[in-house]
Amino acid sequence: MFQPKPIENAGKAEFYRDLTEQVNALLGDERDGIANAANLSAYLFMTLPAVSWVGFYFLHANAELVVGPFQGKPACVRIALGKGVCGKAAERRQSILVEDVHVFPGHIACDSASRSELVIPLIKEGELLGVLDLDSPDLARFDAEDQAGLKGIAAIYVRASDRPIRA
Ligand code: SME
Repeated sequence: MFQPKPIENAGKAEFYRDLTEQVNALLGDERDGIANAANLSAYLFMTLPAVSWVGFYFLHANAELVVGPFQGKPACVRIALGKGVCGKAAERRQSILVEDVHVFPGHIACDSASRSELVIPLIKEGELLGVLDLDSPDLARFDAEDQAGLKGIAAIYVRASDRPIRA
């Protein structure tokens, strides 16, 4: 059983270095994409400061994102490609960092307390699997270091896991 080690909060570089090591240990040799998404969202939610929602949306039938394992309040279930921050990140296949969700056109407010958001697409061998979505109640909670660090974490998930949903 995975025993999380406390993460030193010296600075973001050290934080993400330690987080990466811990996530590798957490996923271990498990290849189930749903199990890994469940444990990873739980671990990120308990470890990252000031986050209100961490979870996965998976691409179904190459057409829409459907909520997967997450931690936080119940969320919107289906998001069309191109809609909201999640749908745009999925469509563009690029991460999107939103400092203030109130000024992001088309932001989907699942939780009215959310103020900033980071969405990272999950791409395995050229195929879009879905996205990893993180929300914060704080304005500008995520910066470029968080974006780079969490892209690395998403890449570990993709490498470690078999495709959870057959599109
Ligand atoms: N805010 C997202 C919707 C998903 S929730 O934040 C969990 C969006 O605009 O795509």
